Amino acid sequence: MDDAQLEQLAAAHPELAALREKALEVIAAAGADTAIEEARVRFLGRKSRLTEILRSIATLAPELRPVVGRLGNLVRVELEQFVERRAAELTKAALSASLEHERIDVTLPGQPFPAGHEHLISQTMREVEDIFIGLGYRIAEGPEVELDYYNFTALNTPPSHPARSSHDTFWVQEQRETMPEAVVDADRGVLLRTHTSPVQVRVMEAQAPPVYILCLGKVYRRDSDATHTPMFHQVEGLVVDEGITLADLKGTVAHFTREFFGPERSIRVRPHFFPFTEPSIEVDVNCELCGGTGCRSCKHSGWLEIMGAGMVDPNVYGFVGYDPEKVSGFAFGMGVERMAMLKHGIPDLRLFYDNDVRFLRQF
Ligand code: DAH
Repeated sequence: MDDAQLEQLAAAHPELAALREKALEVIAAAGADTAIEEARVRFLGRKSRLTEILRSIATLAPELRPVVGRLGNLVRVELEQFVERRAAELTKAALSASLEHERIDVTLPGQPFPAGHEHLISQTMREVEDIFIGLGYRIAEGPEVELDYYNFTALNTPPSHPARSSHDTFWVQEQRETMPEAVVDADRGVLLRTHTSPVQVRVMEAQAPPVYILCLGKVYRRDSDATHTPMFHQVEGLVVDEGITLADLKGTVAHFTREFFGPERSIRVRPHFFPFTEPSIEVDVNCELCGGTGCRSCKHSGWLEIMGAGMVDPNVYGFVGYDPEKVSGFAFGMGVERMAMLKHGIPDLRLFYDNDVRFLRQF
């Protein structure tokens, strides 16, 4: 309302003018939503004095009625707007106060989310893999459900070979029993691979020499006790090139052993037999626990067996079309669980598969 209107109001209805002053004062001083609401009811509500005055215009002197009616309505609109504005002000102030006090510090550390890690077997495989990748080997893979041909026959282990009985095979489909008269069909038998060696044949079938590959994966045997599980892991290596000798095999294994177990470790080589290598060897690493004098862990020999190996038998080359007059090579195979047990002093193979996190989180 402007000054002229205020003067007019003061003259026509002093009570209303005073009421207006009071209302403006109270609303301006309201410090909370509830106080604003109280002021609204008090000055603008149905039972307020303003409403009463506006309803009783008719009782005023005739010359005052239009003036008080018009100015009274102006006062009502003015007070309504004032209440709105004050309420908006309060909301805004409350918001900035809460932004000030409840500010989120995004630099504080978050809720910890427990992260797992690779199983020791996977870690060990990565470690072995890294060492051989460092020597220029390529990683090869093959199926876990394998043909008899790759698992045995092409590795110089024909159906009647006695070495087959040393592998307790899980057969998926044993053709030898259903078709005894057809020797060729024996190759089509389906099994869970008993070792990673079939990958050697698959790789040589698929590529010409030189070959420098490493294959890591699961293998299966019908075995279960403190030192055998029906599923375990192997690492297989194969090298075929011109002029490869047993000295290359020994040097490679010695390098691997020092990288994997530590620079102080040494190896020894014993003659052995595998159908797919000639000559065949087994490799031992010196026992660190007793320093070679003999203890329970090395069965009092001072040595721990770590792998089978040998020079690839020329008969195997016959299955893949390599010329044994031109190339020679070596192969080796080792158990991943055994490597991890020797390296970390783990007493029981079954700990790997109990999945007790108290064991697993130590590595
Ligand atoms: N495949 C053999 C086993 O499971 C281990 C092995 C021995 C692999 C000699 C080789 C090898 O490549 O040359 O017992």
